[in-house]
Amino acid sequence: MTIIRRDPQAPHCPPVDKKRELIHVDCASHTYPDGSVGIHDMCFYVLKDEIVALCGPNGSGKSTLLEHLNGLLTPSKGDVWVNGRSITHGERADLWKDVGVVFQRSDDQLFAPTVLDDVMFGPLNLGMSHADAKAAAMSALEGVGAADLVLKLPNYLSGGQKRLVSIAGVLAMKPKIMVLDEPTSDLDPLHSERVEALILRFKRDYGISVVIATHDLDLAARIADRVCLVKNGSVFAEGKPDEVFYNPLLIDEAGLTLPQTVRIYLEYCKAQGIEPEQRPIHRHELISALQSS
Ligand SMILES: Nc1ncnc2c1ncn2[C@@H]1O[C@H](COP(=O)(O)OP(=O)(O)OP(=O)(O)O)[C@@H](O)[C@H]1O
Ligand SMILES: [Mg+2]
Repeated sequence: MTIIRRDPQAPHCPPVDKKRELIHVDCASHTYPDGSVGIHDMCFYVLKDEIVALCGPNGSGKSTLLEHLNGLLTPSKGDVWVNGRSITHGERADLWKDVGVVFQRSDDQLFAPTVLDDVMFGPLNLGMSHADAKAAAMSALEGVGAADLVLKLPNYLSGGQKRLVSIAGVLAMKPKIMVLDEPTSDLDPLHSERVEALILRFKRDYGISVVIATHDLDLAARIADRVCLVKNGSVFAEGKPDEVFYNPLLIDEAGLTLPQTVRIYLEYCKAQGIEPEQRPIHRHELISALQSS
């Protein structure tokens, strides 16, 4: 895949393998009641078995797009298709079974009296027995490193703890598609690493497709199969992480800064007066690129 730029005059998704397509946002726009434009002519797709990262500056429309993926918001223009069903014209009630969303604000997500009740809520609604739902909830809480919070009141958790519990609530349901808005914001480095490993494991072991919106460009570079750059309410370019992040002009145009690994490598090459011939993304790739330069 090379970088694909969208034509703002004729917005549409590039041709994709329709058999693998799980989500298709077809030129959707959403204007909020106060007139603010959330997304505009947004074209976006998610395939089976892929991790897609949405990267863009504050207010570019990432969260608005994500809230369309489980029918929480509907487009004022255009359409959103999930598993071949239109969310505008079809039945939205059971979309949550296919698409699990972890919101940017955890307070929008947590509502039950205890953490365990909260994380069990989804599995119980999927029809699991109480014992199976409890086992699924405990396993998800352990996965995110939050098993010790099980009896706590969600209201009294710290911001980072709320985020971990929200992520566990979605993990416990093992949806076909997981959507995480800023999954590592508020998390300490250890918990961030756990969540990163879990996202990779869910794709690898369960074939779950994942969409993340993130300002952590190093995370996006490390885990995404495809990076979509969002600006002014639409995706304007996309490609593999190394292609996108080793294109400083494109990143500048997106209003973003380069991931640390990329910046270190490019600055090192410049200081040494050598051409950057490699595209390290992971730390170990950076170390071997520096050693071989
Ligand atoms: N409920 C709302 N009512 C009115 N305007 C809104 C609402 N939610 C978002 N917006 C506006 O829609 C635009 C897109 O916002 P959105 O939250 O989708 O951006 P974002 O890319 O997720 O930003 P961030 O990186 O800060 O999370 C912004 O101009 C924002 O002010
Ligand atoms: Mg947001």
